Amino acid sequence: MGLFGEDWGDMAIHESVLELIGGTPIVRLRHFTVHNGAEVLVKVESANPGRSIKDRAAHFMIDQAEASGRLRPGDTIVESTSGNLGKSLALIGAVKGYRVILVVDPKTPTSVLRYAKALGAEIELVDTPDEGGGYQRQRLERVRQLRADDPTVFWPDQYRNPDNPRIHAEQTAGEILSDLPEFDALVAAVSTGGHISGLSRVLKEKLPDLVTVAVDAAGSAAFGFPFRGYAMRGLGLAWKPGNLDLSVVDRVHLVGDLEGIATSRALARHEGLLVGESAGAAVFAALHHAHHHPGSRILVVAADDGANYLGESFDDEWLRERGLTAVLDDITLREPEHLIELARHPANPAVQAESLHVQKEVVPAEASR
Ligand SMILES: Cc1ncc(COP(=O)(O)O)c(C=O)c1O
Repeated sequence: MGLFGEDWGDMAIHESVLELIGGTPIVRLRHFTVHNGAEVLVKVESANPGRSIKDRAAHFMIDQAEASGRLRPGDTIVESTSGNLGKSLALIGAVKGYRVILVVDPKTPTSVLRYAKALGAEIELVDTPDEGGGYQRQRLERVRQLRADDPTVFWPDQYRNPDNPRIHAEQTAGEILSDLPEFDALVAAVSTGGHISGLSRVLKEKLPDLVTVAVDAAGSAAFGFPFRGYAMRGLGLAWKPGNLDLSVVDRVHLVGDLEGIATSRALARHEGLLVGESAGAAVFAALHHAHHHPGSRILVVAADDGANYLGESFDDEWLRERGLTAVLDDITLREPEHLIELARHPANPAVQAESLHVQKEVVPAEASR
């Protein structure tokens, strides 16, 4: 019997925390609204046990690798990750008994590293940037070395593994449709392209008029723009990801660091939604879409937990040290009504995906050897 007299007789007992992956809630934004009948809904992926959408892909990639014999008891899982996939793999490794080595870089938030270490993962820090100033290529080079040195290493390869988009097509999309059978736009941040590609393919089959908006960081090369680097974590890439299916993306919105970080902070303060920087960027892009599509119902995927960034973008000192003080001082970046107005005419308005003529380049050749 529960505290309030509930009958818990049928309460499910889960065999492991991995059974808690999925079934994340959708929350309507109350203050972030453009008052033209459009509504912005957020699917809160931080409700997964590893606190991000990456639990889904990690769990499925590992399950499939086990089923096909690519991953065996006693093997070591090695992955290049900016954070969330690493947290998920650490969690799975802890439950299933695998050694997990995560290749990270100085942009990986401290709390993510602590979380992964607490779950028993080992951390390999790559601190030499490549020519463009990013670390993703160097991280993959380190993964290649670890694989060459040890035949028991399994590399999920989230950038190209088809099981990454597949779980979203097979599970996450259905979950969304059962909670939200009708909506007009899907807004999702891109790094590997896994979740937007899997989701959009299936959702467009069921909702043929659905508009899919991909959100990338201004400065990322995922959609073929020159790589310039950016401060936000989670979204963006230094090359065009093999798992990104451009045929199911309608619009691309490059969101700036100030816009994305300011929105994630305002979501925490005004909606009680402590979500990450990529979720802030995605909500900013959704508001832009809402301004230009009155009456539309927009679903944003909020990929991770703002708790990942408490020591970074939620910390005023950290922002000052990085010259991002405008987030603190500029009223247009602090208050929802100003941010909402800023989203009407942002620095880089969304463009039609077909105008980009993106040629798909897969993971850098040296890493895939
Ligand atoms: C916080 C966050 N947002 C967005 C993404 C992009 O997801 P995907 O790799 O499925 O494109 C990631 C991926 O790591 C992420 O960690």
